[in-house]
Amino acid sequence: MSEPALVIKDLKKKYANGTEALKGVSLTVPAGDFFALLGPNGAGKTTIIGITTGLVNKTEGTVSVFGHDIDTDTEMAKAQIGLVGQELNFNPFEKPIDIIVNQGGYYGIPRTEAVPRAKQLLTDLGLGEKMTGRAMELSGGMKRRLMIARALIHKPRFLILDEPTAGVDVELRRGMWDYLRKLTSEGLTILLTTHYLEEAEQLAKHVAIIRKGEIVANGTMDEILALHEDKGDTGYRGGKLEEVFIQLTSEK
Ligand SMILES: Nc1ncnc2c1ncn2[C@@H]1O[C@H](COP(=O)(O)OP(=O)(O)OP(=O)(O)O)[C@@H](O)[C@H]1O
Ligand SMILES: [Mg+2]
Repeated sequence: MSEPALVIKDLKKKYANGTEALKGVSLTVPAGDFFALLGPNGAGKTTIIGITTGLVNKTEGTVSVFGHDIDTDTEMAKAQIGLVGQELNFNPFEKPIDIIVNQGGYYGIPRTEAVPRAKQLLTDLGLGEKMTGRAMELSGGMKRRLMIARALIHKPRFLILDEPTAGVDVELRRGMWDYLRKLTSEGLTILLTTHYLEEAEQLAKHVAIIRKGEIVANGTMDEILALHEDKGDTGYRGGKLEEVFIQLTSEK
């Protein structure tokens, strides 16, 4: 059996202002999986991702990435991951091609290798025409795709996407789904957060639902959908996952 991409055990996070963002989260993302981490605003998704990628310090618990502990084997743990963060965080004055090639530089990829690879990634993501303009000239959805290209430059084994399709139109979103599916079919493990539950239902093999810092459901997509209790016609037209999500996360 190959090592899981991510093993989180009893993870707790209390921010300096006293907010208990994670109250003992345990999660395993198997290698090769497409895993959706779902939860309402403020549930703790980005905090989990921040800790896993070394951007946020944890309070308690352990995290390992392909067997590399983030505390004791930090660099190896980080090297496995490509991150598409929730916030746009590139220099808008730079060109897309430079943003990606420079990112490669952080991972020790020489320019001669990084430049053709960056061009290929941008082309695959539909940004071929835009690679030498300034990043600020990209539309919102294009900026998201630039973030994906940048996350892939060092050929990570594990891609983490924090709401990658926020603000992306329906057609492009589907194009992104196809691209992400292609990546998993090539062996990449993906962890995705999204508020589009239809998207998770389409893509994910495993799902965890988090509410106020605690996991309230965790299983295969079929297991999670089976939690759906038929309450007759509720008047809403969302999918089954949306119903389960509402049942597990609503305040009542
Ligand atoms: N830097 C911080 N300092 C203090 N509290 C924080 C900080 N970052 C997040 N929090 C708090 O931690 C909790 C979890 O936030 P987090 O960003 O992880 O949620 P999320 O599930 O990603 O939400 P969203 O869907 O809105 O992105 C929230 O109560 C939030 O206000
Ligand atoms: Mg978030």
